[in-house]
Amino acid sequence: MKKNIIFLLIYIAVYGCYWENQEALYPVDQFCDTAFVSFSGDILPILTNNCFSCHSNSNAPENAFGITLEDHVDVSASAILIIGAINHLEGFPQMPKNGVKLDTCKIKVFEAWENQGSLDN
Ligand code: HEC
Repeated sequence: MKKNIIFLLIYIAVYGCYWENQEALYPVDQFCDTAFVSFSGDILPILTNNCFSCHSNSNAPENAFGITLEDHVDVSASAILIIGAINHLEGFPQMPKNGVKLDTCKIKVFEAWENQGSLDN
């Protein structure tokens, strides 16, 4: 009887850890929906929250040498540059400038949007 309880506790401890470490055990893709990325629904919110303090149409002249990333035409034209910048690849300015690197899922979502044709959807 006592033995069973000990086994049960070990089981709970191990299984509990297993669930807590899901993100460490599995690649991020499993929790990151990149199937159908939409410009208005997925990309604009990422840019709004992380980039518009400098790159919106109204802030860019003062904060980003006029580099605007608000309209679809600007974002799609700069997609490769943006991917380099948010991945902090060598030879690209690290973005968000003076900020924390975007989390992996946001980067994957942006890359998926570019792969899916940088649509204005
Ligand atoms: C604090 C202001 C600031 C923020 C926030 C910011 N940027 Fe920038 N960004 C700049 C400035 C200034 C430049 C000009 C190059 C430099 O100074 O490094 C720039 C340049 C760029 C460039 C290069 C454009 C070119 O034509 O060479 C890209 C791409 C870019 N930013 C993307 C982003 C993205 C995507 C985000 C959000 C994830 C972001 N930036 C957030 C200020 C910012």
